[in-house]
Amino acid sequence: MSSNFNVVEMNDISKSFFGVKVLDSVSFAVTSGEIHALAGENGAGKSTLMKILQGVYTLDSGEIHVAGEKASIHSFQDARKYGIGMVFQEFSLVPELSVAQNIFLDREHKNSFHFFDEKETIRQSKLVMEELGLDIDVTAKVSTLGRAFQQLTEIAKAIAGDAKILILDEPTASLAKEEVDALFKVLKQLTARGVSIVYISHRMDEIYRICDRITILRDGKKIAVYLLSEISPQEIIAHITGRKDVEMLTHEGKSVVRSSTPIFEASGIQVGSRVNNVSFKLYPGEILGLAGLMGSGRTELVRAIFGLDKKDGGKLKIDGQDVVIKNPREAIAHGFALIPEDRRRQGLVMEHSVKQNILAANLSSLSHLNFLSFSMINNVVRDSIESFEVRPPEANREVRLLSGGNQQKVVIAKWMATNPKIVLMDEPTVGVDIGTKVEIMKLVRAIAAEGKSVILISSELPELLGVCDRILVIRKGEVAEELDRKNIRDEDHLQMIVQGIKV
Ligand SMILES: Nc1ncnc2c1ncn2[C@@H]1O[C@H](COP(=O)(O)OP(=O)(O)OP(=O)(O)O)[C@@H](O)[C@H]1O
Ligand SMILES: [Mg+2]
Repeated sequence: MSSNFNVVEMNDISKSFFGVKVLDSVSFAVTSGEIHALAGENGAGKSTLMKILQGVYTLDSGEIHVAGEKASIHSFQDARKYGIGMVFQEFSLVPELSVAQNIFLDREHKNSFHFFDEKETIRQSKLVMEELGLDIDVTAKVSTLGRAFQQLTEIAKAIAGDAKILILDEPTASLAKEEVDALFKVLKQLTARGVSIVYISHRMDEIYRICDRITILRDGKKIAVYLLSEISPQEIIAHITGRKDVEMLTHEGKSVVRSSTPIFEASGIQVGSRVNNVSFKLYPGEILGLAGLMGSGRTELVRAIFGLDKKDGGKLKIDGQDVVIKNPREAIAHGFALIPEDRRRQGLVMEHSVKQNILAANLSSLSHLNFLSFSMINNVVRDSIESFEVRPPEANREVRLLSGGNQQKVVIAKWMATNPKIVLMDEPTVGVDIGTKVEIMKLVRAIAAEGKSVILISSELPELLGVCDRILVIRKGEVAEELDRKNIRDEDHLQMIVQGIKV
């Protein structure tokens, strides 16, 4: 690869926001036909560097060269002219438009009367989907699609732009395994055509699977560039964190007393045809994992428990007492917290500050004294920011200005500050860096150690195996298996059970 020429060169790029340098003389180069990983902790500057290449931000100093020529990129249009396309970490689709309209949004086909040519848009979109091997109805409204299909539509949109350089910012965050496979196949095809790809991800396995080289950023500086064939995952992690070793999460067997009254009991939960007669008990101090394929009904189950979606049947008990939960307010009053899967949309108000977001779920618990003490409020917010290492640690900063991973920390901080008794977590570590992942899992353990309970949905099996006491495997909306952690040998064993392969 390294003998190929540089399609893109970014030299000595610096960028500050509000007087704070977030990129400090960073150089970055991509050769033709390579897949180049861009790695670093939350807030390291990955998205910012790529947004400069895409014309979202303008660099303060430095130079960009595309195909050997100095490039001046100040807008999307400029970037497209240079053949640069990007799939953003935050979705950029318009929910009310169709898939086809979104794909050709900024360069819609006009017929000879200069009207929007719906037919041509649909025809071309179908071609793109075919090329990607995707079975998506291009006339469907984006708002009606699941997360995974929305993600794939984003990718289709970027590819349809005839990009020579494609930037993907954490593209697999909401994809299931088969969808990831499909995406990787597409990426390989694109590189065979000479397209170069920048791949931002916190997932080491993916980086090794498809990338040729890796550039590592730390605190806005370029730390290293390697061929992946020449560096170990441990070395990468050490470069990313700047520390020699990062704690790995190993299972610590603990005994949960299951003769007592369950802290929570669900029986016969029904949600349309998506959740079918699900029953389980949860004991004080227990961490219960929900494993399953994407679309197996895990998210629907916890949403219904939390009162976000209507239950069509079933009963709930807390500490042995029947309870009815019709909406999230009632769930919170009963001591539940839900850290939702789609955090950026469901968990945060982007234009509000970190402080406002953290307080949103907490005002009722803080106002029981009939007055709100400013110092109390500020303490809650400061403690949250500290314990979750929200960076930068500024309570009044608008959430939209934080890096993706730091936005996720704010959602978790917000719900933890309500001091919940039963915590429902839906993929809590998607998009957070390796150090923070371990911190979140430690938090899960700490909650359980206080005698509270956690229901944890995760597609990362090592995570489930690391912290859970029991795991329910959900398949087609039903509890297919209930497994004690000590009866699961390893990740492969659990993977086979999840896939429904007899072991
Ligand atoms: N528009 C903005 N205004 C102010 N600060 C910003 C803005 N965009 C990013 N930042 C800050 O720049 C730094 C780098 O952010 P960036 O989004 O590039 O990180 P990242 O490496 O992509 O992290 P993550 O893995 O969490 O997505 C962060 O401290 C972030 O808060
Ligand atoms: Mg980012």
